[in-house]
Amino acid sequence: MGYREVYETWKADPEAFWMQAADAIDWVRPPSKALFDENAPIHEWFSDGLVNTCWNCVDRHVAAGRGDQIAIYHDSPITHATKGITYAELQKRVATLAGALRARGIEKGDRVIIYMPMIPQAIEAMLACARLGAIHSVVFGGFAANELAVRIDDAQPKAIIAASAGLEPGRVVHYKPLLDQAIEAARHKPDFCVIFQRDEDIAKLIEGRDVSWYGFQYGIEPVECVPVEGNHPAYILYTSGTTGQPKGVVRPTAGHLVALAWSMENIYKIGAGDRFWAASDVGWVVGHSYICYGPLIVGAQTVVFEGKPVGTPHAGVFWRTIQNNRIKSFFTAPTAIRAIRREDPDGEYIRRYKLHDLQALFLAGERADPDTIEWAQRHLGVPVIDHWWQTETGWAIAANPLGIEELPVKLGSPAVPMPGYDVQVLDESGQPVPPGTLGAIAIKLPLPPGTLSGLWNAEERYRKSYLSHFPGYYETGDAGYLDEDGYLYVMARTDDVINVAGHRLSTGAMEEILARHPDVAECAVIGVSDALKGQAPLGFLCLKKGAATAPDQIVREVVAMVRDDIGPVAAFKQAVVVDRLPKTRSGKILRATMAKIADGEDYKLPPTIDDPAVLDEITALLRDLPRG
Ligand code: COA
Ligand code: AMP
Repeated sequence: MGYREVYETWKADPEAFWMQAADAIDWVRPPSKALFDENAPIHEWFSDGLVNTCWNCVDRHVAAGRGDQIAIYHDSPITHATKGITYAELQKRVATLAGALRARGIEKGDRVIIYMPMIPQAIEAMLACARLGAIHSVVFGGFAANELAVRIDDAQPKAIIAASAGLEPGRVVHYKPLLDQAIEAARHKPDFCVIFQRDEDIAKLIEGRDVSWYGFQYGIEPVECVPVEGNHPAYILYTSGTTGQPKGVVRPTAGHLVALAWSMENIYKIGAGDRFWAASDVGWVVGHSYICYGPLIVGAQTVVFEGKPVGTPHAGVFWRTIQNNRIKSFFTAPTAIRAIRREDPDGEYIRRYKLHDLQALFLAGERADPDTIEWAQRHLGVPVIDHWWQTETGWAIAANPLGIEELPVKLGSPAVPMPGYDVQVLDESGQPVPPGTLGAIAIKLPLPPGTLSGLWNAEERYRKSYLSHFPGYYETGDAGYLDEDGYLYVMARTDDVINVAGHRLSTGAMEEILARHPDVAECAVIGVSDALKGQAPLGFLCLKKGAATAPDQIVREVVAMVRDDIGPVAAFKQAVVVDRLPKTRSGKILRATMAKIADGEDYKLPPTIDDPAVLDEITALLRDLPRG
C-alpha cells in the first residue's frame, strides 16, 4: 500500500486502523476499543487496556531472546566515553533502580522530576518510572533554577532524580546547586533526591534529603513492571506557552506506545535490531519520543550523544558517530546542519567517514529552509526529510513516510499529513481556506493516539489554549497552507512563541522578566531571523523617566536577568532602548509588525495603529542594529 491508500484506510475506519496498530504492543489486558469519546472534545485512546511501557521497551526484547543486543549506545565526545548497554543489562539496571525508588515510597501515579544531561542514566530513570507507573517530568538542563522551581511546584514530585553536572563545551554546568536553589525557591518540597555523581563534579549531598544513585540501590531487589490503564499518564513534559507559566503536556501511556511503534516503522523505517539516532536532548519531546521510547519500543538501538554538532571537537562528529554506530536513520534539527555547514561548507568531513548504512536524514524542531535541505541532500546523498510536529502531539503531524513510500520532496514543505491527523487550514472565522491560501493550521478532533490528553492540573487552560478558538479542532499555533497536492507548508507561529536553535521559547516569559527591572517602564520581546539559529530574541525597553542607570547598563542587567531566570538556553543577548513602542489604539503592542520590520519584510500598516511615526523610529533603529 502506498501513502494515499494508507491514509484513506485510516480515514475510512480509524477504529480498525488503530486497533490493528495496537497489535505491535504487548498488552497485559488488550483494550476493548481504540477511541473513548465520552468526554469529547477531550478524547482518550485504549483507556481500558492494561499495559506497561517499560515492559514494551525493555523486558519483552529480552524475553524474545534479544537480550544481548545493544539497546543504548552512549557517546560523549566531551568526556571521550563510549559505551554500549545491552537490553539485558538495561533490564537489570532499570528493574533495580525501580526497586530502589519503590523502597523509598514511589508508587504508580507519583510524580518524579528528572534533571539530567545526556547520559544513559537519564533514560534509565525515565524507564524506571515507567516500570512503576510513576509519572516522570524531565527538565532540560539548559534551564535555570527558577524554571525548575516552577515545574516542581506544578508537578509536585515526590522525588527528583538529578545528575551532579552536565557538560557543555568548555564549561561544567553544576546541576546540584541549581537543584538546591530550585527546591529552596519552590513551595513544594520533594521527599528525597537521587543524585548521580559524575566524575567531573562530585556534588555535596544534603543529609536526610539526598541519596546517591548507587548507594540507594545497594542490596535492592529488582522489581517487575506494574500494569497501568491505557489512559494513565506516562509523563508530563513542560513546554513554552505565551506566558511565563509553562504548559505541562500530559502524555497517556497506551496511545504513546501505539503511535510511536507505528511511527518507527512507517515514518522512520526502523525495526528490531536497526540503529537509530536522534541528536536531540532528553529534555525535549524529540528526546522523549525518539531517543528514549520510540527506538526501544521496536527493539532498535538508540544513541545517547553528549556533544554538539560543532566544536566537540569538530564539524565531523555527527558523521563519525553515524559511521561508528552504523546508523540507518538519523534525526536532528536544521539548526545543527546549518552550524555544521558554516564550518564545513564543502562537506569535507562528510567524505571522511563511511556512511554506507545511512538511509535518511530527518529534520524537525523548526522550519527546514530549502538551502539547508539541498546542502544536506547534495553531500549526504540520502533523502532529507523535513517533518513537522510539536511537544503536544509527541509524533509527526506531517511527514514523508519513508516506511510506507518515499514521496517526492517539495522543498520548504514537511510533506503530507500522517494517518490520524485531519489537517485543515482555517481562516479567522474557522472556515477551511482553498489550497495555496495562508491560514491557521488546525487538526480536526479527535487527535490521534500518542498526542496529549490535556495539561497537567489545567484542563481549562487546555480547552482555552487549544480547543476553543476553532470548535471541533485542535489549534496548533502554527500558520501555513496546503498546496494542490495536499503538501503542507508551515510558515510561522500565530502566538508569541519563538523558535531559537530548535528550542521553543516564550517571548511572553522573557517580557515578564524584563518588566521586573526597576528602570523598565514597558517592554516587548520579538523573534528576529538569525542565520544560524533560525530566530533570536530581541528585546525593546522603554525606560522610566529619570532612570538613574545608564541605558547600556540596563541592557546588560536585563540580559543577565533572563539568563538567570530562564537559563542560557533562552539565548537572550540583545535588547535596545526605545522612547515608545508601536501600539494599536487599544494599547496592544504590534509585535508581529516589529518582527517584520526587523527582518526587512513588507508589512501592512495596521489600520488600528495609534501613531504610525513610531514605526519609522523603530525602522531607523533596527536598520543600524548589528545582527548575528
Ligand atoms: N545544559 C546547559 N546549558 C545548555 C544546554 C544544556 N543542556 N544546552 C544549551 N545550553 C547553553 C549553551 O551552552 C549556550 O550557552 P552560552 O550562552 O553560554 O554559550 C546557550 O545555552 C544557548 O545554547 P544554544 O542555543 O544551543 O546555542 P549554542 O551556540 O551553544 O549552539 C547549535 C548552537 C546550533 C550548535 C545548537 O543550538 C544545537 O546543536 N542545536 C540543535 C538543537 C536541537 O537539537 N534541538 C532539539 C529539537 S530537535
Ligand atoms: P516543540 O514543541 O518544541 O517541538 O516545538 C514545536 C513547534 O516548532 C511547532 O509548533 C512549530 O512552530 C515548530 N516546528 C517544529 N517542526 C517544524 C517543521 N518541520 N517545520 C516548521 N516548524 C516546525
